[in-house]
Amino acid sequence: MRAHVRRFADVDELSRITAGELQTIAHAAIAARGSFHLALSGGSTPRRLFEELAAHGASFLPWEATHLWWSDERHVPPEHPDSNYRMAKLAMIEPLGLDPVRVHRVAAELDAGEAARAYAQEMRDLLGEPPTFDVVLLGLGPDGHTASLFPHTPALHDLTHAFVANPVDSPVAHGKTTRLTMTAAAINAARHVRVLVCGADKAAILARVLEGPRTPDDLPAQLIRGADVAWLVDDAAAQQLKGLA
Ligand code: 6PG
Repeated sequence: MRAHVRRFADVDELSRITAGELQTIAHAAIAARGSFHLALSGGSTPRRLFEELAAHGASFLPWEATHLWWSDERHVPPEHPDSNYRMAKLAMIEPLGLDPVRVHRVAAELDAGEAARAYAQEMRDLLGEPPTFDVVLLGLGPDGHTASLFPHTPALHDLTHAFVANPVDSPVAHGKTTRLTMTAAAINAARHVRVLVCGADKAAILARVLEGPRTPDDLPAQLIRGADVAWLVDDAAAQQLKGLA
């Protein structure tokens, strides 16, 4: 799979440069359409990027016209330690004092199907059909999942919804659970997709996803293909990539 891979020394450099790219894209989006819609990824990797954006202060991004969304969320309340919203709130939203009216949290404390339907409707209301995000941030799980598109789960083949409740039974998701996730169709409709992958523990799976046989049911991150997809990787995660040698 030919992918656009950008290599950075470490997560700090990756986050610093990506913050600058988001600033550029945001200004262009606002000049063109009056708003900037950014879907945040979960897990731990993006925390440094969120902290970088917060450290720049409220004037770095045009926050008054920026809408935050989530590419996926765990089925937990917002104050739960596993909540992707909570991580972004602590790292960026609260420090910047962002207006909640433009922070589109998944109501993950509700019934999963209900929360997914409501979120998909909110996307349609603000972004049309199919919803087109300016930027979707993603990560890569050790099993090749991205967002909450886990191997062999129903959401992988959903071409009609932008955001769904996805039943997952995986040790990576700590057993049987329901995750809330953008579908590959919605992610691929975005103007820009940035997949952040850091750490030596991701080197093997990153090489499989980018340079191994295409088996998207096993490696759902291989479903991610869109107008502008860039894999942002640090040296440690890139060490098994042949294409970057
Ligand atoms: C989540 C995610 C998930 C994450 C990867 C990588 O809710 O966990 O969005 O897709 O991006 O599992 O997670 P780490 O950054 O913690 O390695």
